[in-house]
Amino acid sequence: MSADHYVVIGNPIAHSKSPAIHARFAELTGQQVDYQRLLAPLDGFAQAVHDFIAQGGKGANVTLPFKLDAFALATELSERARIAGAVNTLKFEHGHIYGDNTDGIGLVADIVRNAGVNLHGKRLLLLGAGGAARGALLPLLQEEPASLTIANRTLAKAQDLQQQASSLSDRCELQACRFEDLQQPFDVIINATSASINDDVPQLAAIVFGKTTLAYDMMYAAAPTAFLRLAASHGAQCRDGLGMLVEQAAEAFALWRGVRPPSTPVLTEMRAALQASL
Ligand code: ATR
Repeated sequence: MSADHYVVIGNPIAHSKSPAIHARFAELTGQQVDYQRLLAPLDGFAQAVHDFIAQGGKGANVTLPFKLDAFALATELSERARIAGAVNTLKFEHGHIYGDNTDGIGLVADIVRNAGVNLHGKRLLLLGAGGAARGALLPLLQEEPASLTIANRTLAKAQDLQQQASSLSDRCELQACRFEDLQQPFDVIINATSASINDDVPQLAAIVFGKTTLAYDMMYAAAPTAFLRLAASHGAQCRDGLGMLVEQAAEAFALWRGVRPPSTPVLTEMRAALQASL
């Protein structure tokens, strides 16, 4: 049987780890999958997808800067993609373009399954109110935390997200604030700002971090991000977003193939490769 074709589409795309992750998933599940990188022009996302479909492509992952284009292109959307307002996974079937968003569920899977931290009844702090934060909203609320505080540099964006969250959950206590308003400890703090890209970190009071606090950065790099260095200096437990990357890929693979790949060995391998690059 010949392999089915998938791509990860982005611009830039050369450094994407998705082909390596999906190749391992295919090996470990015995699935016939060919997964490549596809560089689309900044104004040519829809054309690139239609060309790939015409060549027989079965599905695609979508990364920066095309997650909103993918949302617009999809002819059907999952509930979590609709709420996220962004799509990172496309499935092509019977002339339809199905759009899903597996980022938030990947984050939750990494926290709950891999880090072993249950979110039920916990006090959560979400830093940031952009696309990454919005993508995490529904999957986080589905874990039924006691409270969710959304803190952002621009307060109005945090308030918009709180408004959206209030329509999704009537049990979780919701708050929106600026970073400097945070004056209490949290069980789990998730950094969904893009500050880490510039080795920057939101200004947070030491009190937000406790010894049992899990500080999670959606970003990952060979060396700890500025947010994780700050959290570690206050004694918190730290975790970067490499597991989220692997878990969002596992969700996409499961959607395409109907088979759940084992993510633990792949995360271990990816971690070793990242450390070797130091
Ligand atoms: P993404 O899709 O990665 O979430 P985005 O939609 O541009 O990207 O959102 C970036 C988020 O990171 C926003 O919450 C932004 O805060 P503002 O809404 O005030 O712009 C936040 N952010 C970016 N750089 C930051 C920094 N240096 N310190 C704090 N927050 C930052």
